[in-house]
Amino acid sequence: MFLSFATWLHRTPLSLLFQENAGWLWPLCETLHFAGLALLIGVAGMFDLRLLGFMRRVPISVVKGFMPWALVGFSMNLLTGVIFLITNPGQYFANYTWWLKVAFLLIAGVNALVFETAYGKRAAALLQEFAAAGEVSAFQYAPTQGLAGTRDAIAGRIEALQGRRPADDELLITSGGIEALELVGKSFLDRGDRVVVEGPTYLGAIQSFRGFEAEVGAVPMDEHGLEVEELERRLADGLRPKLLYAIPDHQNPAGVSLSDERRRLLVELARRHGFLIVEDVAYRELGFDGDALPSLWSLAPDVVVQAGTTSKTLFPGVRLGWAVGPAEICAQLVSAKQTTDQCATALGQRLFEEYVRRGWIEEQLTQSRALYRRKCGRMLAALERNMPAGTRWIQPQGGFFSWLTLPDGTDTVELARRAVERGVGIVPGSLFYPDGRGTGNVRLSFSLVDEALIDTGIERLASLLA
Ligand SMILES: Cc1ncc(COP(=O)(O)O)c(C=O)c1O
Repeated sequence: MFLSFATWLHRTPLSLLFQENAGWLWPLCETLHFAGLALLIGVAGMFDLRLLGFMRRVPISVVKGFMPWALVGFSMNLLTGVIFLITNPGQYFANYTWWLKVAFLLIAGVNALVFETAYGKRAAALLQEFAAAGEVSAFQYAPTQGLAGTRDAIAGRIEALQGRRPADDELLITSGGIEALELVGKSFLDRGDRVVVEGPTYLGAIQSFRGFEAEVGAVPMDEHGLEVEELERRLADGLRPKLLYAIPDHQNPAGVSLSDERRRLLVELARRHGFLIVEDVAYRELGFDGDALPSLWSLAPDVVVQAGTTSKTLFPGVRLGWAVGPAEICAQLVSAKQTTDQCATALGQRLFEEYVRRGWIEEQLTQSRALYRRKCGRMLAALERNMPAGTRWIQPQGGFFSWLTLPDGTDTVELARRAVERGVGIVPGSLFYPDGRGTGNVRLSFSLVDEALIDTGIERLASLLA
């Protein structure tokens, strides 16, 4: 059958070239040649369709699973091509399809490059570059404040994105955003100090401030972020916080952003009442449309320490972040860091610096924003279709999360347990409050989950509420 197919193919216009070679070798080679090409084009085409936004239901892991078949196809095509070339080069080059094959091979190569760069090839190439250049700084201890080149790159990026460049003594590199919070706590908090957070807020921050025996209390939020007017009332009633911790952009876990008006009022309150604002900008660069409101630090660099992270923009594996704030505060953070890890990863600092200088971080962000926007849209549509009446949720404009408010009486701790049994990961809302509120809420995260699984996940969650 195989040979009869080969013979049939041999008579098709695809093989005009080889008609005079009617023996068994050439038809066999032709079959393998074109089958290999079809395999290669098929796999390359799948990557193309994914790049163009089609085939979203097929997880990328499945598409990547076909990569070895592209290699098989390529090998078949190459091997048989060599046989043609050796046995009859004149005819091979006269063939009208040879340039087509080269074009397809190029397309496949570019596809592979695009996908592979997105999956860490660039980082691997950079490490090789550092090693080949004998770059000692990447492999040694770094200064506690951070490598000069990396600080320069981060300062430049902050200037471009926030309109103000931190001076040399207003910036230090940390081991992730969480370390910036930890250093602030270590430098400023004593037992019993009051810390105000948004309710709900990032669990890591609550744990970090509590680690210094601070009294952590929450001020509520609405769809415009922290209710700063409520904070103002509490301050008027005698609340005296030492620190206020806020995540103004695409908040974790609520998915909302602080309005411009409230940002300005908040920094004014900090100046009036003499507390320090710790502004966590973990999701600031992940607005779906790329825009952002003025950062609190840019509005009031005298009363704000900003904590940043590369975990959501580069990758979390490098454990890198930064703190920006008044020089005298940064000096304290640097001395606190001397007895924690002494310096953030030099290798990670160099990687991030190069990602910034070569424009790769912007490329990556463009892709990330589009991906998260799509996933979020899909999740919101699934919520709309499936959730029972009385359920409300936030419509995020960026970041990783939406915040679900369930009908009265739903025990979300129990719901989360049952959801996990059905393969759906959600986080019960009470974990994000310092005082056990949030029992009727859950955090939904759309960032990591495979796009193709979002519909099923929400359907299963809704079925537990029915
Ligand atoms: C608001 C917020 N800040 C900080 C962090 C921690 O970032 P890093 O990985 O840099 O420690 C997270 C991580 O989830 C976060 O959500």
